[in-house]
Amino acid sequence: TDPALIRNFCIIAHIDHGKSTLADRMLQITGVVDDRSMRAQYLDRMDIERERGITIKSQAVRLPWNGHVLNMIDTPGHVDFTYEVSRSLQACEGAILLVDAAQGIEAQTLANLYLAMNADLQIIPVLNKIDLPAAQPEKFAEELAGLIGCDPSDVLKVSGKTGEGVRELLDHVVETIPAPVGRADAAARALIFDSVYDTYRGVVTYVRVIDGHLSKRERILMMSTSATHETLEIGVISPEPKPADLGLGVGEVGYLITGVKDVRQSRVGDTVTSAAKPAGEMLAGYEHPKPMVFSGLYPIDGDEYPELREALDKLQLNDAALVYEPETSAALGFGFRVGFLGLLHMEIVRERLEREFGLSLISTAPNVIYRVVMEDGKEFTVTNPSEFPAGGKIATVFEPVTKSTILAPSEFIGAIMEICQGRRGQLLGMDYLSEDRVEIRYTLPLGEIIFDFFDQLKSRTRGYASLDYEPAGEQEADLVKVDILLQGEPVDAFSAIVHKDKAYTYGVDMAKKLRELIPRQQFEVPIQAAIGARVIARENIRAIRKDVLAKCYGGDISRKRKLLEKQKEGKKRMKMVGRVEVPQEAFVAALSTE
Ligand code: GTP
Repeated sequence: TDPALIRNFCIIAHIDHGKSTLADRMLQITGVVDDRSMRAQYLDRMDIERERGITIKSQAVRLPWNGHVLNMIDTPGHVDFTYEVSRSLQACEGAILLVDAAQGIEAQTLANLYLAMNADLQIIPVLNKIDLPAAQPEKFAEELAGLIGCDPSDVLKVSGKTGEGVRELLDHVVETIPAPVGRADAAARALIFDSVYDTYRGVVTYVRVIDGHLSKRERILMMSTSATHETLEIGVISPEPKPADLGLGVGEVGYLITGVKDVRQSRVGDTVTSAAKPAGEMLAGYEHPKPMVFSGLYPIDGDEYPELREALDKLQLNDAALVYEPETSAALGFGFRVGFLGLLHMEIVRERLEREFGLSLISTAPNVIYRVVMEDGKEFTVTNPSEFPAGGKIATVFEPVTKSTILAPSEFIGAIMEICQGRRGQLLGMDYLSEDRVEIRYTLPLGEIIFDFFDQLKSRTRGYASLDYEPAGEQEADLVKVDILLQGEPVDAFSAIVHKDKAYTYGVDMAKKLRELIPRQQFEVPIQAAIGARVIARENIRAIRKDVLAKCYGGDISRKRKLLEKQKEGKKRMKMVGRVEVPQEAFVAALSTE
């Protein structure tokens, strides 16, 4: 295709503002999916595929429109995947900024807009869901226009549901988004903006060709790893994969299949070139995704450890950002220390492990990655409380911080500031988006965000606040490791790295919780929270003499035997910490963040 006729764009939006619905309408209006198969087949089929665990979502769909080729590129919606979002944006020349006409601008609207502006994209502001009775198109058109600096009349108004305004929007894409430019005769360079594992076909790699040409049956080179592969298939998606015998030229968007089995061999952000005639320079800005949040994952039933390993291996095929290594806990047994991009990523992985692989898991409290500098100048990173040095020779500890943006109705400013201040936040600034909506920016330690920050924010603002955060380097922090001891024995699963000011609260809360959760034993069990050798909180579980046989005094022997059996069974679900029997559920309950 002549690059002058190509338009590459993405749709960026806050969650639920209607991106998928609008995309469906575009598929239908451009005739890529016909009216009848739209609901009955296209979406149904996706459900089945989803159940089978194959990735179905078209990451980039080619839409013919008035003699032009529009490539609609999908972006992952969430903060944790910002790096991938920014890569998808690099594959486009323009972006539709979609805002729900009944909701207005939200935190992810802003975050995505800033990414798009950084990538120099042409922005088309659009209000969606104008069919809703609660829509306030005039009000929000003004808000949106104020944000991007255009006239309110330039804001398009559509309904992804009814299709109203969608044709005009497609025309607008052709008129305002620049055509791609690249050097057709140069060595091939294509940007990988997505990479998905498919059970049947192996890894499907989505690329945008910047310069030159990629063909079928060609040896290609991944520039970050120097690995070479052969392209077994190359094509475009519309909406099914369609092999393209002529290959892909400048500005084109499509997929490659090389037979690799693991997305880590075909990483988002990498540059694909020809092995025979490689390009001199990679496309800018490739980086490995870095895990930011760590947690221990253990099977509740220790026998499921091999299944857990297998499940993690499988998930990793399709998730280059997921990292894990085996870890043992004296209290929880064999498990893994798993690194995630952020909280959402952690929740998704955990949910998939439980739902798709039928595992029951205990996860230890999440922590971030710390950099510890000792007095003798030695330096290392800590991703697990057990690696935190116990001795006093620490010079400095650094923790990751974020730049967080919260959007909410202005009546909640007080509540939001209180929460942020309580979590060592530093106010960066505040702007009114309209009379009654504010954007509040804070520097917040990532470690403070990962403990139910979002839940608190939601509950204190009746669900109206939205949050977005991005990594913003690190800062020195006064952090300590709090250990929890049962009868003098530390229980590794309960150790946590916390700020000095919160160590006491953490210790007291944990000790209280455990006193409720651990049944009384034949002897007294002291529960202590300690920083090093210094005890900061203490609770006691009083002893009982649990003589089950006493009840059947003189009774028949078979009944006695039954009771003994039952007691033995109960014991199986116990973990021994020193001499103390701790029920499995106590671990689960103590480690859940309510
Ligand atoms: P995520 O994929 O979760 O980020 O959401 P999304 O932005 O893709 O939104 P989606 O298209 O799933 O729509 C979210 C909800 O809004 C769904 O219940 C849709 O039916 C509804 N919706 C989307 N567009 C419209 C619209 O134009 N009008 C109305 N009334 N509802 C809409």
